[in-house]
Amino acid sequence: MAKRLAIATELVRSAQRIVCLTGAGVSAESGVATFRDAQSGLWARFDPAQLASQAGFAADPGLVWQWYMQRLQGVAHAAPNPGHVALAHLQARSADFVLVTQNVDDLHERAGSLKVIHLHGQISQFHCNDCGLRYSLAEADRSAVFPPTCGKCGGLIRPSVIWFGEALPESALDAAWHAAGRCDLFLCIGTSGVVYPAAQLPQIARRQGARLIEINPDETPLSPTAEIHLPGPSGVILPQLVAQLG
Ligand code: OAD
Ligand code: ZN
Repeated sequence: MAKRLAIATELVRSAQRIVCLTGAGVSAESGVATFRDAQSGLWARFDPAQLASQAGFAADPGLVWQWYMQRLQGVAHAAPNPGHVALAHLQARSADFVLVTQNVDDLHERAGSLKVIHLHGQISQFHCNDCGLRYSLAEADRSAVFPPTCGKCGGLIRPSVIWFGEALPESALDAAWHAAGRCDLFLCIGTSGVVYPAAQLPQIARRQGARLIEINPDETPLSPTAEIHLPGPSGVILPQLVAQLG
């Protein structure tokens, strides 16, 4: 492990343009549940078709609303962990560092990361499911048992997270694609690498010659293409990496 960490540190030190893709694993040590971990993952305990799709929202808007508002409350009470903080440090000491996340929480921002690209939206933002008008909601609306209605069209307001079958935000996707296509080092951290198009980003980077480092306690479909796999929690490994950079 010490040798792998030393190689990874050298790759980071010599990189000119770094892209980092994070997933739910980065927030796990903050107490935010991942999706696919066998016991604790959200999709092991809840049905994504019911809670993360247009059909599910149409069938039971109150259930979907309450589920997200409960998760939002969990995120609000969570704090960034040393992995988030280390990534903010890494960005601050790099001339060209793009952070792309699949996470809908704001823990990267709260740790000090800038210009975070949110591929899957943000749970603390809202829009009308029918006309798309954006809303910021007061606590009273958030704690209601049913989603508030849109003042413009009467549609239901929903959290601005991407549901299954929905397109990713175009500007975030464009920015992430562009960055992956020009980076010389790609860091893949805390993601199972099975959700597309996000999982395509490390492949794009690899194909155009970027080096690839993965930080994840488990092997993923991306592991075989990674030059270095650092097996362990990002909240432990990232601070070690940043410390070694000096
Ligand atoms: P997953 O739950 O699929 O994967 C989490 C990954 O984090 C797994 O590979 C774990 O091994 C790893 N992991 C667990 N604890 C970790 C730790 N302490 N440090 C580092 N890694 C750790 O989550 P994502 O890959 O983010 O979509 O899932 C992708 C998308 O699927 C999510 O954005 C979400 C979900 O459906 C939307 O919300 C649209
Ligand atoms: Zn509307």
